[in-house]
Amino acid sequence: MKITILMGSPHLNGSTAFLVNAFAQGAKDAGHEVVQFNTAHMNIRGCLGCDYCRDKEKGVCVQKDDMQKVYPEILSSDMVVFASPIYYFTLSAQLQAAIHRTYSIDIPQNVKQTALIMSSGDRFVYGPAITQYYQSIVEYWKVRNAGIFTSAGDDNKSEQKYKELYEFGKSL
Ligand SMILES: Cc1cc2nc3c(=O)[nH]c(=O)nc-3n(C[C@H](O)[C@H](O)[C@H](O)COP(=O)(O)O)c2cc1C
Repeated sequence: MKITILMGSPHLNGSTAFLVNAFAQGAKDAGHEVVQFNTAHMNIRGCLGCDYCRDKEKGVCVQKDDMQKVYPEILSSDMVVFASPIYYFTLSAQLQAAIHRTYSIDIPQNVKQTALIMSSGDRFVYGPAITQYYQSIVEYWKVRNAGIFTSAGDDNKSEQKYKELYEFGKSL
């Protein structure tokens, strides 16, 4: 299957990237096609709420920024994986912007499952991010949640976390 990963950490070699790379390697080793975007290093502006995509041209966003590269990949994917560091108890603004911009394509019909990967400093800080993921993605898109993975503090960049994420990707 085709898997698109939307990753929202500015650190290219950080803890979130470490988890994402482990997952992507496992998924590729299982024979899946993996497309990765780092939304923190792309020009993705916040949703304008102009409703052009709803009222004027269905599914078309007026903002011609880097989301134009992301839309076709999401729409042709079987699975979408969201990955982010925890910033102030929720997903990073760089990932949030991309999620908000899916407003224009609304519910991607091809996507059957999603997953969430998060890295943080402390443990037990994931409540708001998980709630958003469930309500805005899993329930709204009507997809299967394939897994929620977290890594905090000393666990970040650990061999054990690499194995956990690699095995998840491999298992798909
Ligand atoms: C702006 C900012 C806000 C943060 N907020 C939290 C937080 O609310 N809870 C927490 O446990 N860690 C918080 N952290 C720590 C990061 O989540 C943690 O260092 C994470 O592993 C960074 O991942 P990265 O290496 O991919 O950037 C914050 C870090 C930054 C820069």
